[in-house]
Amino acid sequence: MPIGTDTRAPARTGKDDVTGGPEAGPRHVAIIMDGNGRWAQARGRPRLFGHHAGAKRVREVVECCPALGVKYLTIFAFSTENWKRTQVEVAGLMSLFRRYISKEMKALATKNVRVRFIGDRERLDKKLIQLMDALERETADNDRTHLTIALNYGGRDEVARATKRLAQDVASGKLDPESVDEETLPRYLDTCVLPDPDLVIRTSGEARISNFLLWQSAYAEYEFIDTLWPDFTAEELARLCQGYGGRDRRFGAVKT
Ligand code: FPP
Repeated sequence: MPIGTDTRAPARTGKDDVTGGPEAGPRHVAIIMDGNGRWAQARGRPRLFGHHAGAKRVREVVECCPALGVKYLTIFAFSTENWKRTQVEVAGLMSLFRRYISKEMKALATKNVRVRFIGDRERLDKKLIQLMDALERETADNDRTHLTIALNYGGRDEVARATKRLAQDVASGKLDPESVDEETLPRYLDTCVLPDPDLVIRTSGEARISNFLLWQSAYAEYEFIDTLWPDFTAEELARLCQGYGGRDRRFGAVKT
């Protein structure tokens, strides 16, 4: 099921106006938080130590969003491919997610942050799903910052799940196949209520998008930075947002 029933926020796509203004910062920032393992390794510690340090950065980054004009923040916490890691690391990450949700629920609610999860919940354990549901419920009326956590998320998996539901609607007569255009599929994606990301950041020096928001990032700007995620700061995000404001985004059009 799509993650929410609220109206889809207007997305910035090729069909929108191209003026934006050079001073306009990104409204939606998406982050691939990479480098926890290397950060821990450099300190002679186990990989999970790096993930715990990474979880601490999430709070600082979420809290600096309003000052930067970032209304939507989407973070990649666990991919559909991450199950291939050792059982110890996967179990440790799942336990970290449970702890993070329990620990941060109150702070997120008081800071007026609305939390959503995207990804396939089917493979996640029951306790974690209950906590995810509770956090979404507790923060459902908030609207200062929209934090989306991608957990067991893969862009191709999301498109496949969306296509399945779309096909079911065609089969049941709810959707006329002739009416399907590029506005149709996004309504079936996990992100159906979110605008497309304006800026996608990946930390740790890798220049890949690793199956993250494939459909949604068609017109996003990308920043690949060397900083390892546990060292990422609010100042660095501010610098990247400023850099974004100076870019000329044309969405395929020619500026007149
Ligand atoms: C990639 O670094 C990071 C992950 C697979 C996990 C991301 C998780 C967090 C930042 C922790 C907490 C998140 C929340 C929402 C509580 P890596 O392990 O691939 O690093 P490496 O490339 O250096 O090995």
